[in-house]
Amino acid sequence: MPPKSLAAGNWKMHGTLASLQEIESLVQATSDNKHSCDVLICPSFIYIAAFAERTKGTNVMIGAQDCHAHASGAHTGDVSANQLADVGASHVIVGHSERRADHTETSEQVHAKAAAVHEAGLISIVCVGETESERDASKAEAVVTGQIIASVPDSATPENTVIAYEPVWAIGTGRTPTVKDVADMHDSIRATLIEQFGQAANGFSILYGGSVKPANAKELMSASNVNGALVGGASLKAEDFNGIIDAYR
Ligand code: 13P
Repeated sequence: MPPKSLAAGNWKMHGTLASLQEIESLVQATSDNKHSCDVLICPSFIYIAAFAERTKGTNVMIGAQDCHAHASGAHTGDVSANQLADVGASHVIVGHSERRADHTETSEQVHAKAAAVHEAGLISIVCVGETESERDASKAEAVVTGQIIASVPDSATPENTVIAYEPVWAIGTGRTPTVKDVADMHDSIRATLIEQFGQAANGFSILYGGSVKPANAKELMSASNVNGALVGGASLKAEDFNGIIDAYR
């Protein structure tokens, strides 16, 4: 099966209940089925239930930005993948570089979280990406390969796992790698996945993330082995995000 294309929005710690208006607009904009990609928005935990209720039966899916590795237990302040499934989430982002940096999450922890997402019957979006100094030191490919091997659990299949390549230095900066650099990294990620999972790995969707905007989406999405985008800032407004979905119209 060829990879499915996915336009995913990561709202990070942005948005309020009033942002339901943006969700409504996105539902409207995608209701004519003229796009050939899946559409996902990942708001903060507290909005997932309300947004998922509104998007039931539409072309917009709602996901989470993180979860705990355990299904339940004494973990004050945490949210499990089972609970996310319970309120209608379809996907869970794990290992975003902001969680790796702000919460010192390791690839081993990301691995456990992704396995918990699969156990709950949801789709994990496993994030990887090098820092600027790692790229400058020509270590980008080695870093990302190491993250893939350590973060993606054996339970991963093309149906329950999406990979997101997000170079840390491109996030929120307006800077992006060249299309060739994106293609080279995505080709390398595909090769790593094939080593890990065999030819079935040709079915994994591999997203690019980092300063994706309506103006550069088409070019970035056309690179080799790029099967969609993970978008931060430009996913907050339905109009901007819809302009990115245009790459798939
Ligand atoms: P920006 O699109 O704002 O650069 O953020 C990318 C990102 O981190 C998505 O997860």
